[in-house]
Amino acid sequence: MHSVPPEFQLNNDGLTLLWSSQQAVTYPWFWLRDHGEDQDSLDAATLQRKVDTFAVPHDIKANAVQWHGEILQLQWSDGSTSHISLQRLKQIAGLAPESEALPDADRRYYWLADNLPDPYPSFAYTELIASEMAVWQWLSAIVRYGFAVVTDVPSSEAATQTLAERIAPAQQTIFGIYWPLSAELKDHGDTAYSTQFLAPHTDGTYYHDAAGLQMFNCLEFDGKGGESVVVDGFAIAEHMRLKTPDLYQILTEISVPGHYLEPGVHLYAERPVFRLDRHGQLAQISFNNYDRAPFLLAAERMQAFYKAYAEFNRHAINQANWLKIPLRPGMALIFDNWRCLHGRMGYVGKRFFYGCYHGHADFESRLRVLAQTHAGAALGAVMSGYR
Ligand SMILES: [Fe+2]
Repeated sequence: MHSVPPEFQLNNDGLTLLWSSQQAVTYPWFWLRDHGEDQDSLDAATLQRKVDTFAVPHDIKANAVQWHGEILQLQWSDGSTSHISLQRLKQIAGLAPESEALPDADRRYYWLADNLPDPYPSFAYTELIASEMAVWQWLSAIVRYGFAVVTDVPSSEAATQTLAERIAPAQQTIFGIYWPLSAELKDHGDTAYSTQFLAPHTDGTYYHDAAGLQMFNCLEFDGKGGESVVVDGFAIAEHMRLKTPDLYQILTEISVPGHYLEPGVHLYAERPVFRLDRHGQLAQISFNNYDRAPFLLAAERMQAFYKAYAEFNRHAINQANWLKIPLRPGMALIFDNWRCLHGRMGYVGKRFFYGCYHGHADFESRLRVLAQTHAGAALGAVMSGYR
């Protein structure tokens, strides 16, 4: 599709493109030189920068500028030339979706008590193993809802790995790459390895790169209770942004440390409960009161933090906001640990899960690559339990 290149004006500060009568965007000269897309400025295959940013004169300006179709050509005051595409100029100004954006991120379905996904997104194991399209729809559903269930999964460690590797290699943590989870295991002192109720939380607040996805395959269940609980943390954040913006703001600002200790291990990391991206959009929820490490702020700020933190918790522990999923052999649950909180009801009996994590960057990478081929396909074609 062809776009008509906008008119422009050369200013002291940079080049102004008149996208419409309402919208003019100025691109600083130095920025334009630094973002050349010609073969001397950028490697076309890897998109790695070739221009030596630090050798560009700080006061560089263009002497001449012209459109060649959808390419803007620039002649520079230091004698060099470069070009940049209309598409890049549009994307960077927010006038076209960035190619780096997470596919379907603008179609996220935020859910709380009054709009829980019912039935929840669910996919058949055999489809996911057989079809790339099915994997695309599966991951796309995880972007939209924050989680999905997989049915008919063989109750084995090998099948768990086979399923996980349809996304990417799993992420290694102190728990290993693939890990068994059961109260009968005493390998780790963590509360997850018990039968008690676990309040909704995110995992890995003590890792700089907290797990992106988390997956549990239920290998065995013979008991009562133990339902998995999923809560949409992004929906809580959005609710707070609208209803209690001052409290929302505090949770975007104050870094909260998390730690994990066991013999030979001392992990520690910190970030705000609501981490925003450079556009001010929510990127990650980090909330684990069990693993919170001590920190102290000035009295007034500390009090403000506790108030905001308690407000978040009030929504997180509100059972009306919970999706309770009783996992049984054959079922695997996968969720975005940067968006959804998870918990577990207390139980009696035997419950044995096998699980793993994926790095968020690896999950996103798989999505972007799948989107190149499959984006636009109707969601639902292979979903077995979705309305
Ligand atoms: Fe957990």
